Amino acid sequence: MHKPLANKQIVLGITAGIAAYKSAEFLRRLQDLGATVHVAMTPAACQFMTPTTFQALSGRPVFTDTIDTQLQNSMAHINLSRQADAIIVAPASADFMAKLTHGLADDILSTLCLARNCPLIIAPAMNREMWANAATQRNVKQLQADGVHLWGPGYGSQACGEIGSGRMLEPAQLLAESLAFFTPKIMQGLRVLVTAGPTEEAIDPVRVISNKSSGKTGYAIAQAAQRAGAQVQLVSGPTALAQPYGVDFTAVTSARDMYAAVMQRAPQADIFISVAAVADWYIKNASDQKIKKHVVNQLPQLDFAENPDILAQVASLDHGPWCVGFAAETEGLTEYAQAKRKRKNIDLLVGNLVQKVLGQNQTELILYSDAGAEHLAKGDKQEVAPLLINKIMQYYPGRTQEK
Ligand code: CTP
Repeated sequence: MHKPLANKQIVLGITAGIAAYKSAEFLRRLQDLGATVHVAMTPAACQFMTPTTFQALSGRPVFTDTIDTQLQNSMAHINLSRQADAIIVAPASADFMAKLTHGLADDILSTLCLARNCPLIIAPAMNREMWANAATQRNVKQLQADGVHLWGPGYGSQACGEIGSGRMLEPAQLLAESLAFFTPKIMQGLRVLVTAGPTEEAIDPVRVISNKSSGKTGYAIAQAAQRAGAQVQLVSGPTALAQPYGVDFTAVTSARDMYAAVMQRAPQADIFISVAAVADWYIKNASDQKIKKHVVNQLPQLDFAENPDILAQVASLDHGPWCVGFAAETEGLTEYAQAKRKRKNIDLLVGNLVQKVLGQNQTELILYSDAGAEHLAKGDKQEVAPLLINKIMQYYPGRTQEK
C-alpha cells in the first residue's frame, strides 16, 4: 500500500467530546498511510474513550499527565512537540479552544500545544449552539489569527439530537485534510479543470451506449491537484466513485452535456486535464420512449452523429487553459499518441494501453511531448496521480495572462 505519510510524526490530541470515538478510526487510517501517531488526552477526554484503546491502536504509551515520573525525562510536553510534524486535536471541544486562545496550559495537551514549534490543527466538535456562540466564534478568529489551522466543523445531525454546524469531520475527511496538509503546494493559486469517467449516449430512456471507464484515474488526478493547492473543478460522467474531497464537482451524462459544462468553465481555468473517455458518437434518432422489442419487430436502426471533441475545442480557445490530453490505445501507443497530440494541438499527452489498466487500480503512464516519450510510472492510480501532477508542473509554461 502507498504510504504518503511515511516519516511523519503526528501528535493526535483528544479532548472531551463524544466524537472522540471517531478518532480511534482516524488514528488507524493515519497509520495505514505510514504516519507515526502519538496520542495525548486531556483528563476529561479519558471519560469518553480510555487511554487503553488508543494505546492498543497506536502501539505507544498515551500521554494523559503533564508530569510522568515513569519516564526518564518527564518533559513529554517538550519532547513530543519537538518530534512532531503536526499536532492534530480531534475532537477539539469548545472549552479546549477557549484554553488555546488564551494560552492556558493546565493539562498535557494544552501544555504540548503551547510548547510546540510545529503546526497546530484543530477539528472542532461541539453542539451547534456552542459553535455559534459569540465567545466560540471570537476564539475561532483569534486562533486563526495565531496561525492555528481549522478543519471543519461539519454540518449534520449531532449526538444531542439537534441538527447544525459543529460536528467533527468524519475520519475519511480528516484523512483527506491530513494528506492535503502534507502535500507540497506546487499548484497553489491555479485553477484546474478535469474531466473524468465515461459519457453515456442515450438510445432510449433505459438504454445507452458508453465507453468503458471507471473514472479512477481522473478522480485521483483531481484529488492530487487539490492536495497540491489547486482550486479544482471536476466534470464527470457517470461513475460509481465517491466525489473527491474539496473538489467542485459537476455530474454530467452525455458528451454534449460534458462539452457544455467544460466550455462554461474552461475560460477561467489555468490548466485543463482531459481524462474523460468521451463517446465519439451520439444517437441522432434516440427515442423518447422505451423501444419495445415485440412492437418494433425488427432490429432498431441507430443513426449516429459525431460528438464535439471537447479537448480540441478547449485547446483552440483564444485565452483558454493550457491543456493536457489522455490517449487510451489498444496498440501502437507512441504513434497514435503523438498523432493525437498534434491533431488536437496540445503540448502534453498522457498515454496508456487500455487493456492493461481499464477498471484496475493499477496504471502505467507515458508522457508524449515535442521532446518525445517519457515513461512516468507504473503503479496504483492513487500513487501515480501526484507524480503526474508534479510532472505537469514541470511542463506547464505558466499563466500567459490574468484571467
Ligand atoms: N476527447 C474529448 N472529446 C472527445 C473525444 C476525446 O475531449 N469527443 C479527449 C479525451 O478526454 C482524451 C483525448 O481527447 O484526453 C483523446 O481521446 P481518445 O478517445 O483517445 O481520442 P479520440 O480523439 O476519440 O480518437 P480515437 O477514438 O480515434 O482514438
